[in-house]
Amino acid sequence: MINNSFQKVIRERRSVRKFLPTPLKEEVIRAVLEDAQFSPSNCNTQPWDVHIVSGAKKDELVKALLDAYEKGNTSLDFTFDEKDFLGKYSRRQKAQGKAYYEALGVAREDYEERKKAAANNFKMYDAPHVALLFMPSIGDDVRVAADIGMYGQSLLLALIARGIGSVPQTVLGMYADTVREVLGVSNEMKLLFGVSFGYPDKEAPANSLRLGRDPIEESVTFHR
Ligand SMILES: Cc1cc2nc3c(=O)[nH]c(=O)nc-3n(C[C@H](O)[C@H](O)[C@H](O)COP(=O)(O)O)c2cc1C
Repeated sequence: MINNSFQKVIRERRSVRKFLPTPLKEEVIRAVLEDAQFSPSNCNTQPWDVHIVSGAKKDELVKALLDAYEKGNTSLDFTFDEKDFLGKYSRRQKAQGKAYYEALGVAREDYEERKKAAANNFKMYDAPHVALLFMPSIGDDVRVAADIGMYGQSLLLALIARGIGSVPQTVLGMYADTVREVLGVSNEMKLLFGVSFGYPDKEAPANSLRLGRDPIEESVTFHR
């Protein structure tokens, strides 16, 4: 069922970090992808290259990612380091981490439990499906990454409009070579992030997290 009330849809979306195993019907996944395809892009280049992984292939990917994670075999196409967040960005990032571990009931100093929680990323938080969002490398990549971001949000909203939960995952992009190898993707395609999706486990503590946003005055300057 589609819920087209935009305000409801955009406010209802949140990151889901525990999914039910129930797979989605292929026709539902296709309908979501048809919607996301309407995303805007620079010069209508539509540079998203999307790989949907389910079933046995997803199990194979999870196994390979957990192995790479355990061995510390990272392979990033684009840098990512939380230490690069300064000022208000660092404040927000820390608040998000604190709220998440509080929702899980994991203490700040409990390194082992935090590591286990982080590893859940590589199990796609038990989601039955994951979309890997690849892009071609063009220029300094920033314009293409903006297009992929547009596509990503369309995908999340197309999912939640149908009651399907999701979580975008940069962490999956930190093991780009592993993902490319399992999926047989060319080195020329760069992995920006993944989106795990499926029906949310409504009882799970991880899904009790509700993050607010700063007021628009923090982000918007009006010029008259
Ligand atoms: C591009 C992108 C990458 C993200 N990467 C991860 C990730 O690797 N793992 C994770 O658990 N959440 C990830 N998130 C989810 C964010 O933490 C989340 O969107 C943010 O804290 C706001 O919470 P909300 O989505 O529930 O509104 C990512 C979000 C975006 C937009």
